[in-house]
Amino acid sequence: MAQATLSNPSTTLTFDRSIRQSVRGMQTSDGAGVKLTRVVGTPLLRRIDPFLMLDEFRSDEPQDYLAGFPDHPHRGFETITYMIAGRFRHRDNKGHEGILAAGGAQWMTAGRGIVHSEMPEQEEGLVHGFQLWLNLPRKDKMCEPSYRDLQSEDIPRVTLPGGSVVRVLGGAVGDVTGPISGRATEPVYLDVELARGDAADLPVPAGHEGFVYPFAGDVVVGRPGHERTLARGELGVLTPGDGVRLRAKDGSARALVVAGKPLGEPVVQYGPFVMTTPEEVEQAVRDFQAGRF
Ligand code: FE2
Repeated sequence: MAQATLSNPSTTLTFDRSIRQSVRGMQTSDGAGVKLTRVVGTPLLRRIDPFLMLDEFRSDEPQDYLAGFPDHPHRGFETITYMIAGRFRHRDNKGHEGILAAGGAQWMTAGRGIVHSEMPEQEEGLVHGFQLWLNLPRKDKMCEPSYRDLQSEDIPRVTLPGGSVVRVLGGAVGDVTGPISGRATEPVYLDVELARGDAADLPVPAGHEGFVYPFAGDVVVGRPGHERTLARGELGVLTPGDGVRLRAKDGSARALVVAGKPLGEPVVQYGPFVMTTPEEVEQAVRDFQAGRF
């Protein structure tokens, strides 16, 4: 496993982002009846360009997750699924198959079309994870579908000077870069485990739109004088800046820090088809119904 200790943090950054809006997720169900919390992609927060959706699923009640997500299509964007606990199996019509296990992630580029299933590989116990939908620029929406399984050991960890640990799925902390890269949106995806008493400074490139989402404990976001506390399950949209400071409100905490370069293109979404015009969405529906995915 790649591990690094950040002993010489960049001094040229000001980590001056704070929170401009906060929102709680809405309980819903998707797939064949999986209970989840939709945090981005609701009437309260439609999207944060280039992100279309964020779902958190977390339950130790088998009836909440057993039905899974049987075969369904996607076109025009990417999904990043990150598992904190539990196991799911992915299978798609391009011949990819993989296990999503605790600490691992799956990065799927639907491109011009994929049909896949995401089903639990367990009949009891805790399932906890996130699915993020990342938009593709118009020019890349019809690209060849691709799929990458990232096991826990494929995701580098950085220990910050104050003891907090950052798992870098996408973006960079110091000179450690995450495996999710090579996209026009330059996605940053950090899982930050905040150590007691530490003020963790995380780089979030200027010009990116982003958010902080605490999923264990409450997190104080921002520099002194601009601090704002986010409770567990409360998403905070970031103001502009070059980075963000986080600390656990009490004891320790854990949060996602996610950001990307906004596309600034029209978004026309019909369920799992996300394109830039109504005609492109109609074409996606016709192509799917005709078995062209
Ligand atoms: Fe899916």
